[in-house]
Amino acid sequence: MTGVNQIRKTFLDFFAKNDHAVVESSPLVPRNDPTLMFANSGMVQFKNVFTGVEKRPYSRATTAQKCVRAGGKHNDLDNVGYTARHHTFFEMLGNFSFGDYFKDRAIELAWNLITREYELPVDRLLVTVYSEDEDAFQLWKKIAGLPDSKIIRISTSDNFWRMGDTGPCGPCSEIFYDHGDKIWGGPPGSAEQDGDRFIEIWNLVFMQYEEQAGGGRIVLPRPSIDTGMGLERISAVLQGTHDNYEIDLMRALIGASAVATGVEPDGEHKVSHRVIADHLRASSFLIADGVLPSNEGRGYVARRIMRRAMRHASLLGAKEPLMHKLVPTLVREMGQAYPELVRAESLISETLELEETRFRKTLERGLAILDGEARTLGDGAVFSGDTAFTLYDTYGFPLDLTQDALRPRGITVDTEAFDAAMQQQKAKARAAWAGSGEAATDAVWFGVKDRVGPTDFLGYDTETAEGQVLAVLKDGAEVPALAAGESGLVVLNQTPFYGESGGQQGDRGAMTGEGVSARVTDTQKKLGDLFIHAVTVDQGTLKAGQALELTVDHARRQAIRANHSATHLLHEALRQVLGDHVAQKGSLVAPDRLRFDFSHPKPISAEELAQVEDIANRVLLENTPVVTRLMAVDDAVASGARALFGEKYGDEVRVVSMGLAPEGSNAAGWSVELCGGTHVARTGDIGLISVVGESAVAAGVRRLEAMTGTTARHHLAGQAKKLEALAGLMKTPVGEAEARLETLIEDRRRLERELSEAKKKLAMGGAGGGDAVKTIGSIKLLAKSVSGIEMKDLKGLADAGKAQVGSGVVAIVGVTEDGKAGIVVGVTADLTGRLNAVDLVKRGSEALGGKGGGGRPDMAQAGGPDGSKADEALAAIEAALAAA
Ligand code: ALA
Repeated sequence: MTGVNQIRKTFLDFFAKNDHAVVESSPLVPRNDPTLMFANSGMVQFKNVFTGVEKRPYSRATTAQKCVRAGGKHNDLDNVGYTARHHTFFEMLGNFSFGDYFKDRAIELAWNLITREYELPVDRLLVTVYSEDEDAFQLWKKIAGLPDSKIIRISTSDNFWRMGDTGPCGPCSEIFYDHGDKIWGGPPGSAEQDGDRFIEIWNLVFMQYEEQAGGGRIVLPRPSIDTGMGLERISAVLQGTHDNYEIDLMRALIGASAVATGVEPDGEHKVSHRVIADHLRASSFLIADGVLPSNEGRGYVARRIMRRAMRHASLLGAKEPLMHKLVPTLVREMGQAYPELVRAESLISETLELEETRFRKTLERGLAILDGEARTLGDGAVFSGDTAFTLYDTYGFPLDLTQDALRPRGITVDTEAFDAAMQQQKAKARAAWAGSGEAATDAVWFGVKDRVGPTDFLGYDTETAEGQVLAVLKDGAEVPALAAGESGLVVLNQTPFYGESGGQQGDRGAMTGEGVSARVTDTQKKLGDLFIHAVTVDQGTLKAGQALELTVDHARRQAIRANHSATHLLHEALRQVLGDHVAQKGSLVAPDRLRFDFSHPKPISAEELAQVEDIANRVLLENTPVVTRLMAVDDAVASGARALFGEKYGDEVRVVSMGLAPEGSNAAGWSVELCGGTHVARTGDIGLISVVGESAVAAGVRRLEAMTGTTARHHLAGQAKKLEALAGLMKTPVGEAEARLETLIEDRRRLERELSEAKKKLAMGGAGGGDAVKTIGSIKLLAKSVSGIEMKDLKGLADAGKAQVGSGVVAIVGVTEDGKAGIVVGVTADLTGRLNAVDLVKRGSEALGGKGGGGRPDMAQAGGPDGSKADEALAAIEAALAAA
C-alpha cells in the first residue's frame, strides 16, 4: 500500500516530468488575494497569473497546496468529524497551465496519471462535464476512450468552478471513482448522487473567465488550466478505503490521540478522535503561517477550530491539555513535505498548550451550563441564543462549538437571537467609548468599524499583500473615491502597513491597482485595530471595493525594525548598568533614530553611556534569532517579560525575546518584552547601535537617543570627517589634534591676558598720558576717556591712575564699541574725608544720560547710554571738584 507522502510525490514527479515547474505551496493566508480568508485551493497563489497581471518564469506549474476551508465561502468546519471526507485542512494537488496547454492536454495528462501512475482501474472511473461544454465531452471520448454513458453532462454550478465571489472561473470536468455497490449511492446527476459510492477525485477547471466585483464577467487573456485533487481522497482510493480518515496519515494522528487519552480510536468516541486529528492539522499549519488565536478575523477562525478540538479532548476525558502532545506525530508525518512545521514546532506546541490551558479554565463551567439547559430540551428543539451568547462571551465558547456540542442531541441554536445579543453588546461598547472623550474626533470610525470590522494585520510576516478597499474618507467624511491629486484616508480588509503604536511610527509605501497608484504617507490605528492609511492619489481613481497591491517602503521599515530591536537591547543594557529602577517612560522608533525615555534620577556619566552602548552591541553581535511568542499576560510576565506599568494589554500578548538568557535563568532570552512592534530576524541585522545623546526630559526622567545600522555609520563617518576638517585647519594629524587644540586654547588665553595688559598700559601711559593730570584747586585730577577696553577693566585702570597721581582723583570714561559708556571715579584714601567717589561718579553718569551709580567713597562706577558725551562727563566731574 502506498503512503500519503509517496502519493503526493508521484503526482509532483509526474508533472515535473511533463515540463511543469514544481512550485511550493503558498502560505495559508493569501498575500495576493484580499477577498479570501485562507487559501482554499491550489490556484489561489496563481490568481494574478491567470488574469495576466503577474508574470512568472514558467507557463506550467504543479503544486501540493495547503488549504483551509473554514470561515469564508468554502466552510467545512461544521461537518468535520461526522463525515468521511470533510476537513478544515487538506492538501490539494494540482497542475496549472497559464495560457500554455488547454483542455485536450489537461485531459490527457490527468488520464495518464490516474490510469498509468496510480493504476486505477478504468472501469471504476467516470467523468462529468459542464452541459454546455461539448468540447470536453468529445475530448474525453477521444482521449480516454470512455463510452458516452461514463461522460455525464451536468448543468448545475457543480460543474462551473469559482474561486470566490470574484476571480478566475470556468467550466469544469470532474473525475469520479466508483467505490462499488457495497456502498450506497448513485452517479453524479442521479437522484442518489449524495450517497458515498461515487466520489469525485479530481476537478479539471478550464479557466476562461474572470468574475468581476459587482457581477460582470470578462474573458481571460489566454485560456488556462487549473486542476485540483484532494490528496486525502485520492489516498483513500489508492489505499482501498472510501474514508479519508482511514488513510495512513490520519490514522497516525488518530492513533496518537488514542494513545495520549487511552481511549479506543474506533469506539463510541470515534468522532472526537477524528475532529482532533483534523483540527490539529489546521491549527498547526495556521500557527506555522502566522495565524495565532485571537478574537477577530482569521485569528478567531483559528481559535474556533482549536477550541472545537479542545472540547472533544475533554469529551475523551483528557484531564490536561492534549493537543500539543500530538504535535510531534504531525511533524513526523508531514514535516518533510512542509518544513515550516519543523521550524515552527515549538511555537505550535506552546500556542496550543496556552490556548488549551486558558480554555480549560472555563470549559467545565460552560459545559455545565450548556448541559443544564439542554437537558430540558428534546430532539429537534432550539437552544436559547442568549445562553449561547453568554457561553461565547463569558466562557469563550465559539458559536460552532456550542452547535457541535448540541448536534448529537438533535438540538439547534437560535442564531438570530445570538446575533442580536452580539449586536447589543457592540452597541454598549460603543456607548462606553462615546463617553471616553476620544469619541468626538473618532466618531466617524465607529460607523466604519461596525460595518467593515477590524483590519487584519499581515505586516509581521510580509511587506507586500493585496487588500480590498472597504472605506475611503476625505475631510472627515466617507466618499466613494479619491481622484488623482486628492488626499484622504483608506481602510482595507487587510494590510501589511504597520499602524503607529508603541512608539513605532506608521509605515509608508504605495498602493497600486489597475490604472491607480497612490502614495501612503502614514498609517495610524483607530479603535484598537482599525488601520487607517493616509494616501495621496498620483494616478487614476482610488475607489471603495477595489483590490489593490500594497507595498510597504521596505528600506524605511527595515530601518524601523532595526531601531525597534535596538531599543529593546538598550533598555536592558540601561537596566544592567544603572539598576532595576530603569523603567520605560516613552519611546519613539523612527527610521532614522530612536529615542527612549526612562526613569532615572540623575544625568548619566559618559562612562555609563559607553558601557550601555558596549553591552547592547555585544548582544547584537551574538546574532541570535529574535523570537516572538504569543502568551497569556501572566505567563509572559512570569517569563521575565518587561511590560509597561499601567498599560492595558489584551488577554494574550506578543512577547519578543532576543539574546541568550543568562545561564541558570529560565527567562526566554536576554531581553524579553511585551511588544506589538516589528523586529529584525536576528540581532545582527541591527548592524550597529550608536548612542548619540543623553538629556533630561522631566524630573526623574532621562532620554537616550541612538542610531543604528547605516544611519549610525553615516553619522559616525560624518563626525570623523568633521574631525579631519578641524585637524586640517590646525594643520595637524587627527591623532594630535586634541593636544594641538589645548595648546591653541592656552595660547589664546595668554594672548588675551597680554592684550588686555597692553591696552591698559596704552590707555594710561600712552602718548601724552601725563597731560591728562590737571590740578583743580589743590586737588590733582586725572581725567581720561578710553575706548577698546572692557568695562570690567576700568576699575583696574582707575587703581593704576590713583597710584600714578599719589593723591588726587581719577575719572575714567570707557566707551564701548556700540557707543555706550561706563565711568569709574577713584578718590585716593587721603582725600576720602573731603570727597566721595559716589557723588562724583553720579555727576559724570548724568552727563552720559545715565542715572546714578554706586560704589564706595574711594571707588565708584556707573554706566550711561551715550558714549559721545564722554568729554561732557569728565567736564562735569571737573566742575564738581572746582566747586568742592
Ligand atoms: N480550483 C479547483 C478546485 O478547487 C481545481 O476544485
